[in-house]
Amino acid sequence: MKGLILSGGKGTRLYPLTYTLAKQLVPVANKPVLIRVIELIRDAGVDEIGIIIAPNTGDEIRAAVGDGSRWGVRIEYILQSSPDGLAHAVKIAQPFIGDDRFVMFLGDNVIQGGIKTLIADFANHDWNCQIVLKEVEDPKSFGVAKLHGDGSIEQLIEKPQNPPSNLALIGIYMFDQHVFEAVNSIQPSRRGEYEITDAIQWLVDRGYMVQPHIHQGWWIDTGKASDMLEANSSVLDEITPTIAPDAVIENSQVDRRVTLQAGAQIINSIVRGPSIIGEGTIIRDSYIGPHTSIYHHVHVDRCEIDRCIVLEHSELRNLPARLHDSLIGRYAKVLRREVRPLTLTMNLGDHSSVEII
Ligand code: TTP
Repeated sequence: MKGLILSGGKGTRLYPLTYTLAKQLVPVANKPVLIRVIELIRDAGVDEIGIIIAPNTGDEIRAAVGDGSRWGVRIEYILQSSPDGLAHAVKIAQPFIGDDRFVMFLGDNVIQGGIKTLIADFANHDWNCQIVLKEVEDPKSFGVAKLHGDGSIEQLIEKPQNPPSNLALIGIYMFDQHVFEAVNSIQPSRRGEYEITDAIQWLVDRGYMVQPHIHQGWWIDTGKASDMLEANSSVLDEITPTIAPDAVIENSQVDRRVTLQAGAQIINSIVRGPSIIGEGTIIRDSYIGPHTSIYHHVHVDRCEIDRCIVLEHSELRNLPARLHDSLIGRYAKVLRREVRPLTLTMNLGDHSSVEII
């Protein structure tokens, strides 16, 4: 069995962050989503993994993941010259996959629990494909499955106007080599992409065995900033907190659900969990509330922050109100102006958003 992670795409819904950073490298609880996916696949016993990369973000993904040896896996990179759809990504992965069965995982998805049982089920049956479904509130923006009375798949529809069920396809799929016939037979959809739902429908229509599995835990597709914050909260709720031996806690309250990474310093501050403070980050005279992840080498001084993700090397100082539900990029500065004129002074990238009270 091999693994295929889709880490190309455009990431337009996460602008401005994704102008300069691959969305799969945005950290959730201080670990990039893509690394979480690699670990999940490895923990299910699969150690040969292909990663689909895009021309603009491929180099940075290669730099972050390398040959995979740090996680005990072997990585091969597959360049997709344009984001022509999930089925197109499968098509170009054929030389890497060969005749093996494989699990395909979207590189921006976060799921509760592992995929060990799913992979074992697929390995122990002669199914041609296994898909994972989840009940969602608004299925219109997903691929949706219509099931027969016996639970088998009748039809899959991409982003339907009138969804036949609330069962959405989530970003984990298992295939045998018949999927290559499917992806080579389908045509691009109206939005110009080779849709994986069309490829799976092709398999269903030709009598191949496509097994659905309904996932009961949470699952988050981190396409937008609000999804990133949601995924961050869900992962923080589940991690086992640890305090690095060289972390410094001085005149502060740090509750038991807080993780402090190497060299983090908490000075004259209150930190409530679940939250995580990264390597070399300094929190001074501040309040850090639940569901906050502050990545490495950040300076926070005289601020209140909760339910946020702050990326590396940023600076937050003397804010007049609590920073809440926010995603702050790398090397960003959010400061209160301390000299007159007391104006708002901004230097924002395209598609940035600021809300002021
Ligand atoms: P999407 O979130 O559907 O697409 P996107 O990344 O282009 O984002 P946006 O809609 O905000 O512009 O992609 C899901 C995952 O699959 C993500 O990790 C990117 C990856 N992907 C590819 O690798 N190749 C592709 O052709 C597409 C469409 C997505």
